[in-house]
Amino acid sequence: MKHPRQFFQPLAIGAPAPLRDLPVRLERMIHFVPPHMEKMRAKVPDLVNQVDVVLGNLEDAIPVEAKEAARQGFIEMGKAVDFGQTGLWTRINALNSPWALDDVTEIVGAIGNKLDVIMLPKVDGPWDIHYLDQLLAQLEARHKISKPILIHAILETAEGVNNVEAIASASPRMHGMSLGPADLAASRAMKTTRVGGGHPEYKVLADAAGDAPRAAYQQDLWHYTTAKMVDACAAAGIKPFYGPFGDFSDAAACESQFRNSFLLGCVGAWTLHPSQIAIAKKVYAPDPAEVAFARKIVDSMPDGAGAVMIDGKMQDDATWKQAKVLIDLAKLVAAKDPDMAQRYGL
Ligand code: GLV
Ligand code: MG
Repeated sequence: MKHPRQFFQPLAIGAPAPLRDLPVRLERMIHFVPPHMEKMRAKVPDLVNQVDVVLGNLEDAIPVEAKEAARQGFIEMGKAVDFGQTGLWTRINALNSPWALDDVTEIVGAIGNKLDVIMLPKVDGPWDIHYLDQLLAQLEARHKISKPILIHAILETAEGVNNVEAIASASPRMHGMSLGPADLAASRAMKTTRVGGGHPEYKVLADAAGDAPRAAYQQDLWHYTTAKMVDACAAAGIKPFYGPFGDFSDAAACESQFRNSFLLGCVGAWTLHPSQIAIAKKVYAPDPAEVAFARKIVDSMPDGAGAVMIDGKMQDDATWKQAKVLIDLAKLVAAKDPDMAQRYGL
């Protein structure tokens, strides 16, 4: 194991010092753009005002013959657009693919000072992060990049899930992690063709009572992995995200999948279709009534200690901390969204 003293040293002479804390940013949705399509690139200047993160996707869903065009399209879009406070990310191809090395070297060389985060797919263990970490440090030094480019891992292989804690704490460059339910389902030989969401056959039956029809309760296929990922990320001080929801026609199921992840601790999800942007905005911001109650808790315990009763419910140091999570997030949302600021009374 690396000595703690070395952990925050740059990995190449001339590379920027690794960050000790993640930038505080609202990242309710990571919006995927296929950058080889000029029509889609043309929408990016508008998109920047609607989403928290714009991601140029180079990996799955980009046809093999368009891989180079997607990379060049991403570079073009990165150069042309002023992203302001909106994050600029890319999802590169997997490290064992013929494109990954050029994805990283060409993009960092061309727009390394604008790029916030590289999303790395198919991460199996900390060794994948260490490789990209070192390569990025060398490129940052060569191209005089002033702030470290962060890494976001996709949790989408059984081996990755086995190593999730080591991945989360592999480097100070780690930004966070997203659940990749499609690849993960394949890797684990789960019997579903869906991209995220539930499955009607994954259920428990109520006990039999004579001939009466038995109620069936559908369960969440992704609960275990999401919870495991949230713990690994929270322990390492990085951010967990739910990934894609593939059925664009089912807004209610998408909302419910996003919300389960939010309640468990995730901060955002991927939006693959414009209709999912509003869903993510609605889900990944705390409910105003809950924020109002949280403010009551904090106001009644100004030093965060002791015990009080509010509306018949016991509050103490721990609920004060729970309340603070909601209020801090509400403040972050309010700073970006005047409508929500009004609804929170902030
Ligand atoms: C995302 O990349 C997934 O495989 O679900
Ligand atoms: Mg995938």
